[in-house]
Amino acid sequence: MGFKRVDYDRTQHAGYAKGRRLLPVSRRSWLRAFRELAGEGRIRTVVDVGSGTGRFTPALADEFGAEVIGVEPSAKMREVAHVESSHPLVSYTPGHAADLPLDDASADLALMFLVWHHVPDRAAAAQELARVLRPGARLLIATTLSDRLKDLLLYRYFPRTRDIDAQVFPTLDATIALFEDAGFKHSGLIEVRHRSAESLAEYAERQRMRALSVYEHLTPEEYREGLAALEADALAETAPHPVEAECDLLAFTRS
Ligand SMILES: C[S@@+](CC[C@H](N)C(=O)[O-])C[C@H]1O[C@@H](n2cnc3c(N)ncnc32)[C@H](O)[C@@H]1O
Repeated sequence: MGFKRVDYDRTQHAGYAKGRRLLPVSRRSWLRAFRELAGEGRIRTVVDVGSGTGRFTPALADEFGAEVIGVEPSAKMREVAHVESSHPLVSYTPGHAADLPLDDASADLALMFLVWHHVPDRAAAAQELARVLRPGARLLIATTLSDRLKDLLLYRYFPRTRDIDAQVFPTLDATIALFEDAGFKHSGLIEVRHRSAESLAEYAERQRMRALSVYEHLTPEEYREGLAALEADALAETAPHPVEAECDLLAFTRS
């Protein structure tokens, strides 16, 4: 990839829960999209792969009335999840996409939310997801795709983040080919519109926490300059201007 691996135990865990807190309206948009692509079968067990601080894990349990296993390699992200995202139907456990602590064909739905680009061994991860999902079960992947980059506010203030995303993220065709090789069928792609802040001021406040892994690839000057321009615009904001964007959600069905 050419970029250093982001270690959530070293950096991101501290600001993540606050800097990336889901607005309730956004959570609803995502849950509607998950439901739309989750398929018809009964969902008893969900695996949230790369569950992080548990932003979605309890919401998945409520939405599907299912047991949810959050698998997360970073001990510090799991610590936050235990404190901030506990739920009677949710457990958090160490593991990673290419080594999931689940039995064969034991899950009815898997989610990977902004995780796929962090996975170093993607072919092995696709095989592992195929192992733990029962036939007919769906895998949902929310991700940026390098050939479908969106018009993000981030790219306007920190222009090199767009070039970085174009290199870090895979293309749609490469992603589909990889999962087809592992025994999945591509069964849907929707663009989910979601709100990341209620105003430019709130957006600037979040960027100050540096809770986006792409910032780790910027120089200190690039980050400082972008933030200064954003803060100046936020100060000039007279009425709250919500920040919204689209993100791709892909669905695959285990054959
Ligand atoms: C951007 S965060 C997303 C967390 C959560 N899904 C969310 O949306 O809040 C990426 C997460 O992927 C985890 N991760 C990194 N490599 C992974 C791997 N190989 N398998 C599973 N998760 C991984 C990181 O530790 C981090 O918690």
